[in-house]
Amino acid sequence: MTKQKEISSAVIARLPRYYRYLGDLRDNGVERISSLELSRMMNVTASQIRQDFNHFGGFGQQGYGYNTEYLYAEIGKILGLDHKHNMILVGAGNLGSALIKYMNFRNRGFYFKAAFDINEALYDRQIAGIDVYPMERMASYIRDYSIDIAVLTIPKAQAVKVAEVLSGCPIKAIWNFAHTDLNLPGRIKVENVHLSDSLMRLSYEIHRYEESVSEQNSAAQAEEN
Ligand code: NAI
Repeated sequence: MTKQKEISSAVIARLPRYYRYLGDLRDNGVERISSLELSRMMNVTASQIRQDFNHFGGFGQQGYGYNTEYLYAEIGKILGLDHKHNMILVGAGNLGSALIKYMNFRNRGFYFKAAFDINEALYDRQIAGIDVYPMERMASYIRDYSIDIAVLTIPKAQAVKVAEVLSGCPIKAIWNFAHTDLNLPGRIKVENVHLSDSLMRLSYEIHRYEESVSEQNSAAQAEEN
């Protein structure tokens, strides 16, 4: 693999999508795929795919196309998916419970080990086999169980305070769903997730489409008159 430091975040952002498509191809028994075929499936250009892959040495396209299994494994390694990641959940409410119950994270190597919450009523319960503990136990749990990632599904107003506590713990990353962008200095990586951003983009597309249909109708009517 070539020097990853110089690779743009736009290229890195596309890798999970390649990984997903290649996983499906592999599961369907497709052994080789050309950049053209992959580009048609993914609705991107073949040259974009080749350029992206060239950042990592090209993945040895020889003869007809890429070896699907190899490409899947290599992109997985770049994404760090050849390592197991231990995670904790902070905020065992609706969203947090849904994330714990989603088993596919585990298939990708992301394991929820425990959940933490301020609500005492949750302490005698399990969510999909995962125990819920008081917040006071969080820091020692992170140390004792080599937790890499904290998943934050708490109210926005609590997020900064909890992130400050987490920044004193040996975690590597925060997957933040609270509706505030966390910017932690230093070694802890943060991925801020806002599903509503995606919904707003969808809303924009709906309105843009409706406007263009309405403009076309007005133009057609004007021509008729
Ligand atoms: P919820 O009210 O069902 O769950 C929140 C949980 O956090 C509760 O169990 C509560 O006791 C716990 N909590 C509150 N303060 C805490 C603290 N300081 N430490 C530990 N636990 C604490 O809420 P829900 O629906 O699960 O949403 C959680 C958060 O996720 C909200 O901030 C919501 O706005 C956000 N959200 C974000 C989305 C996104 O795309 N980023 C999508 C949906 C919700």
